[in-house]
Amino acid sequence: MIKQAIIPLAGLGTRLLPLTSVFAKELLPINGKPGIEYILDECIEAGIKEVVFIISKKKMMIKKYFYNDNFYKKIIKKKKDPRTLKEYKKILKYKKIIKFVYQNKPLGTGDAVLRTKNIIKDKFFLMLLPDDLIVKKNCSKSMIQIHKKYKSSVMASMNVSKKTVSRWGIYKLKKKIDKNNFLIEDVIEKPSIKEAPSNKAVIGRYILPKKIFAKLLSQKPGKNGEIHITDSIQTLIKENQKFIAHNFSGKYLDCGSMNGYIKSAIEISKL
Ligand code: G1P
Repeated sequence: MIKQAIIPLAGLGTRLLPLTSVFAKELLPINGKPGIEYILDECIEAGIKEVVFIISKKKMMIKKYFYNDNFYKKIIKKKKDPRTLKEYKKILKYKKIIKFVYQNKPLGTGDAVLRTKNIIKDKFFLMLLPDDLIVKKNCSKSMIQIHKKYKSSVMASMNVSKKTVSRWGIYKLKKKIDKNNFLIEDVIEKPSIKEAPSNKAVIGRYILPKKIFAKLLSQKPGKNGEIHITDSIQTLIKENQKFIAHNFSGKYLDCGSMNGYIKSAIEISKL
């Protein structure tokens, strides 16, 4: 069973400036609800029991959001507003399952994952990238089912336009397993159009093996000088660890850029 999830949240969010000059992007409301709550709800519905937040000193606002008990208590005492009480209960429910670790230097997603090394207990765990919202169908839940069936690592995937391959991790297909699931032969972080083995992109949901920590410990910086999770995944694939790409059926919303963020709110309001 996959019981633990990790969420890298230490990113600076420069693509959402000026909002992120004072605000954590994951708390920005999307149709009235912070982006991170959509991600937490996806985890809870998929059966996750513990969620590890990787934050930085600059993102302490995120911890405060879930640890503001006294603030709520005072208000609830003063005026018995049912909405405040409901929100407080919801925050308490989240708080119970969240743990915090710190990544104070933005050294990349791989480095963020490494911060959770001593917390992960089981052989496999889930990672969700908070910029990637997937709505209408719970992608994590579907991936956990695939993991159960094939006992393998799984990554969410989507076909992208060839022009945009340098924005993503791009993989090469080894074998089709069924309509929506493929065995991966190779994966490259943000390749040029020339380097790209396909137009199949990795999207921010991963079921990773605990074994990846050993690879991350010796992982050299890659593209843009960052430690990429994609590079350690590639090392594991070369050592015959099975990775399945799952073409999810939900709707993908990119909340990491200003245009995407605006569009996401419109899309979610239509649900
Ligand atoms: C990260 C991953 C990349 C993946 C993307 C999905 O990139 O490194 O492989 O395709 O998420 O959103 P980032 O968005 O952090 O640049």
